[in-house]
Amino acid sequence: MKRVSVVLCVVLSISVVAGGAIFGAAHLKAHEDATGIVKERMDNMKSFGKAVGAMSDMIKGTIAYDGLAVRQGAKTIRSHSGDELIALFPEGSMDEHSEALPTIWQDWTRFSDLAAKLQTRAGALEAAADSQAAFMPAFIDLTDTCTACHTKFRQKQED
Ligand code: HEC
Repeated sequence: MKRVSVVLCVVLSISVVAGGAIFGAAHLKAHEDATGIVKERMDNMKSFGKAVGAMSDMIKGTIAYDGLAVRQGAKTIRSHSGDELIALFPEGSMDEHSEALPTIWQDWTRFSDLAAKLQTRAGALEAAADSQAAFMPAFIDLTDTCTACHTKFRQKQED
């Protein structure tokens, strides 16, 4: 029972993390029109969403556990988070396509801490990928970081 509720909870939180912007048609159109650094960071986030989405399919059991794919997905996130992530958010960089909130620059320390934490946790997931048992808690830690940042620094999704 306990295991089932943990899995359900993870799957629910993943739809918050990877949902909306990826699957919502209205958002998709607006996002295709994005340009410059806003587009760059959206593409970066989309690659995170894709990696997390594949891992959530493994948890749901729609695809088999694949340690190599987990390691590669975690590596993508690790190598594009931390300093590389924050470099895509120069002060005041918002436009009509962007869902970034101005609180990013009001609380830059917290924003950069979360970007750094994402990198550490993606590294831990990469290291845990060979074992499905170790994967689960490392995956939860990682997606908690996505959610923490989106809750504070990204506009709420309508869908
Ligand atoms: C340090 C903060 C932070 C972290 C950590 C973070 N994100 Fe984001 N994410 C954002 C912000 C801010 C936006 C909105 C960017 C914009 O629209 O300009 C965003 C947007 C997105 C989008 C929408 C992209 C689009 O098409 O516009 C997806 C998908 C996404 N993030 C997935 C993830 C996933 C998955 C993780 C964790 C593996 C993650 N993010 C971690 C801050 C973060």
